[in-house]
Amino acid sequence: MNGSLLNFRTDPIPEVRIGLIGTGSRGCQTIARYVEVSGARIVCLADINEENLARANKLLTDSGRPAARTICGAQAWQEICRQENVDIVYICTDWASHAKIACEAMENGKHVAVEVPAATTVSECRKLVEVAEKTRRHCFMTENCCYDFFFLANLEMARQGKFGDIRHCEGAYIHHLEEESPWMMDNYAFHGGNPYPTHGLGPIGLLLNIHRGDRLDYLVSVTTSEGCINNTLIRTVLGRTILLQLDVTTPRNYSRIQTICGSRGYSQRYPLATLSFDDGTSFSGEAALEEAHRFFHSHAAKQWQEGHDKGVINEMNYAMDRRLIYCLRNGLPLDIDVYDAAEWSCIAELSRQSAQNNSQPVAIPDFTNGHWQDIKGHCFF
Ligand SMILES: NC(=O)c1ccc[n+]([C@@H]2O[C@H](COP(=O)([O-])OP(=O)(O)OC[C@H]3O[C@@H](n4cnc5c(N)ncnc54)[C@H](O)[C@@H]3O)[C@@H](O)[C@H]2O)c1
Repeated sequence: MNGSLLNFRTDPIPEVRIGLIGTGSRGCQTIARYVEVSGARIVCLADINEENLARANKLLTDSGRPAARTICGAQAWQEICRQENVDIVYICTDWASHAKIACEAMENGKHVAVEVPAATTVSECRKLVEVAEKTRRHCFMTENCCYDFFFLANLEMARQGKFGDIRHCEGAYIHHLEEESPWMMDNYAFHGGNPYPTHGLGPIGLLLNIHRGDRLDYLVSVTTSEGCINNTLIRTVLGRTILLQLDVTTPRNYSRIQTICGSRGYSQRYPLATLSFDDGTSFSGEAALEEAHRFFHSHAAKQWQEGHDKGVINEMNYAMDRRLIYCLRNGLPLDIDVYDAAEWSCIAELSRQSAQNNSQPVAIPDFTNGHWQDIKGHCFF
């Protein structure tokens, strides 16, 4: 046991040198996004697919950045993990390889940024925590939905007590997917639970201060026999509940639901932004977004606004990238730590276990090993 990584800091890194593994769809989007992020440089790229790799390097050079070293082949990811001039390994491969690559990177002294979900099983989640604690490295899961405009405002409202005691939240990934990679569609089709829980759960995890005063206790889960729509209900140790839904197969409008039910206020993000409070005020649509703006003061919110003013394609990705690099350059704790990555990702295996056993309750591990009350509340340093 090597000690908790709560509010963990490392020495400031003046310029963050990135080794990126997996240059498919998300990897290339990530490379494109980093044009806008100062203080970071992509120094090497790895993939098993030569064509993807060449396209990714062209993206770099077409945007006026220096070409990266490219490494192709089955062992390329290991080479990146060992490369001297890399500070952080950024993992954009398929789900099954995330935890293995992340652990290898940390074992080689690198920080990690890993796409969602960080791991696919509870034992992989435990391993991520064990290796991060042993090596004293950051393991940041790139859960971009934690930087959504309305959510960042809601977080500020919650901190100011606008919702009172938050008793129940709902989150989801409802997205009619048609042209994703075959490995991803197979995972959705054959998983049996919710293999992609973090877009829905991540923001709720920060809002409810999970492992910063409360902890996920147990869940029950059901999955449809056709179409693999999954509903998972989670209870926390403090007795709050979370409803999490996954549906990528029916033609519903995109939604992450993002509902907050508190003793003094209510918020929902989809389908129509809505806020209502016990003082009789309520806002919907444009009025709710305007009201949310009044609570847009955190450093993360300022990064979102900066992205908006620059006209970036997706402000929440921009805010996530900017915050990650800002915290690394300033030696600050990261917004999302290895315990978040484990707590949110483990729902994949646990929801399946419950769903396959007639919705039996399944306990959710305490990845902090008893330290979940040591700090009170999440904050953007
Ligand atoms: N946060 C988000 O909003 C968001 C959006 C899309 C995708 N993602 C995540 O990004 C990740 C990648 O998804 P994608 O759609 O880009 O998939 P993809 O199939 O388009 O790309 C994966 C790439 O990884 C490469 N690869 C696979 N195994 C490898 C290995 N061992 N070594 C090196 N390269 C390897 C593949 O050749 C491919 O180029 C997934 O985890 C996905 O969930 C996140």
